Amino acid sequence: MYTFGLAGFPVGHSLSPWIHEQLMEQTGVEGEYQLFEITPEDFDEQIDQIKKQQLDGFNVTVPYKEKIIPYLDGIDASAEQLGAVNTVKRTSAGWIGYNTDGTGFLHSLQARFPDLFHQKINVLLLGSGGAARGIFAALMDQAEVKVDVANRTVSRAEAMIAETGGDHAARAVTIEEAEQAAGGYDLIIQTTTVGMSPNDDTSIMPLQNIKEGTVVSDIVYRPVMTNFLKEAEQKGARLHFGHEMLLQQAVYAFQIWTDLHPEAHPLLEKFERKLKG
Ligand code: ATR
Repeated sequence: MYTFGLAGFPVGHSLSPWIHEQLMEQTGVEGEYQLFEITPEDFDEQIDQIKKQQLDGFNVTVPYKEKIIPYLDGIDASAEQLGAVNTVKRTSAGWIGYNTDGTGFLHSLQARFPDLFHQKINVLLLGSGGAARGIFAALMDQAEVKVDVANRTVSRAEAMIAETGGDHAARAVTIEEAEQAAGGYDLIIQTTTVGMSPNDDTSIMPLQNIKEGTVVSDIVYRPVMTNFLKEAEQKGARLHFGHEMLLQQAVYAFQIWTDLHPEAHPLLEKFERKLKG
């Protein structure tokens, strides 16, 4: 019997309990997934409480992915590189932190488009926040990519590239420059929060200049079909959805906790139906 959980604020609308219940069902293990809503003032005390419980591991979400680190006994290379943890496991060496966001993104993309990284590709990464960092680091692990990072605040893009050691294969550009150059990208990844609020029909960058067949990815998963993706589809792009990444990063967390290997693919349609509700 496993016990997992999620620490964050707020966590009430989290999809993680549903996803992990599906993964437990698929792998035939028994367990539960609890929600720990921690207010910022109580963080110290609540994390201590969580660590005293009979937990095998827990996820960490906004706004605590960085703040959790000093409370752990160690972090692996992925979390160290990003300075952020989204998965914690109880081990014989104590509580160890991991980050599955970047690899979750990349592997869900490769699952959908297995040939994408077979030749040298030009990538546009939109955004430079926490979500962008994980994806950027995972991209930098690929041999044959050239990445333009476009962000409203260009200095943040520059800092992200420098801190992740990406100068050899990446450069910061303005959103306007990226829009002009859009026809040269093979893969465009949208990681900003633009288009995420329920009535937000804006998108970070117009896509009229993209070429047919470009892979366009939006990590926003609610709505499933963002305006960014709608516009991409109209231009003949191939789409990659935010919920595919969400599911894959959960699969990796589950794998870290249990050493079992569930598959994301059989759950995708069901998950999409749930999101569209
Ligand atoms: P997260 O950790 O979830 O990625 P974040 O660190 O707040 O969140 O980053 C949000 C991203 O969305 C940033 O790239 C941000 O751009 P800035 O670095 O210039 O702030 C981008 N973003 C948010 N609102 C935006 C807006 N209205 N227009 C353009 N970019 C926006």
